[in-house]
Amino acid sequence: MRIFRTVRAMTAWSASLHREGVVIGLVPTMGALHAGHRALIRTARLSCDALVVSLFVNPPQFGLREDFSRYPRRFRSDAGLCRAEGVDVLFVPTGDEMYPPGFATSVAVQSLSRRWEGARRPGHFEGVATIVAKLCSLVRPEIAFLGQKDFQQAVLVRRLLEDLNLGARVVVCPTVRDDDGLALSSRNQYLTPAQRRAAPVLYAGLKAAQAAVRAGVRSASRITRIMRDRIATEPLARVEYLSVCDPHTLEPLSRVTRGAVLLGAIRLGRVRLIDNLLIRGDQ
Ligand code: PAF
Repeated sequence: MRIFRTVRAMTAWSASLHREGVVIGLVPTMGALHAGHRALIRTARLSCDALVVSLFVNPPQFGLREDFSRYPRRFRSDAGLCRAEGVDVLFVPTGDEMYPPGFATSVAVQSLSRRWEGARRPGHFEGVATIVAKLCSLVRPEIAFLGQKDFQQAVLVRRLLEDLNLGARVVVCPTVRDDDGLALSSRNQYLTPAQRRAAPVLYAGLKAAQAAVRAGVRSASRITRIMRDRIATEPLARVEYLSVCDPHTLEPLSRVTRGAVLLGAIRLGRVRLIDNLLIRGDQ
């Protein structure tokens, strides 16, 4: 596995592979890799000739009071996981490589950034869109692999790649969960033992809503109430938002339709958890 730390090394490699018609896959990450990332890497490995994983804790996507400085950084174990999974290139740029002095550009995916995570984390999605646009122009992947857990991010990145003709498409891979249903996230390690015990309540709320849809409930306000009531059984949990949305526009729906997505975010103390479930056609 090659490890590139500079834009120059990364672009030289991707340009030479591009000339040979090699299909490059990209798994963009902020490191602290877990089984969810491993699943992304395995899916990517099977569908691409050459696989790049990027590790970069991207400052602009963190708000002023967010966890940039304490975000877990574990280069050695991340590199070990990538090597074991057959990754070809680990791209680990420094902040100065990605944002050299004078850097002044930011990319905004307007309508898709407004709601949900965008409303609670101002500037977050501009940070995500800017770094993903940069990574795609450096790595030149044909496919970028993203996890369903960050549903809004995946929808937004898909739009971004299409709008800017970046030459890549998005493959969204299913959320990987702990045995009790909690979606894996590098931030789960911030949870205290009591918060960790409470955390599966978000998924339980989403499952309760999904069961109601299967039973024939179609009113989005009833579905949202079912999620809220289930989450209210856990005294540590504070709801940030719960919604039934169109999976492409992320606009709220008044009635549940095939393919709708249930989105939720809760807070346990200072830790935010997000999760989602798709309502498939057979429900
Ligand atoms: O999901 C993440 O880890 C990040 O938002 C991403 C896509 C790597 C951009 O920094």
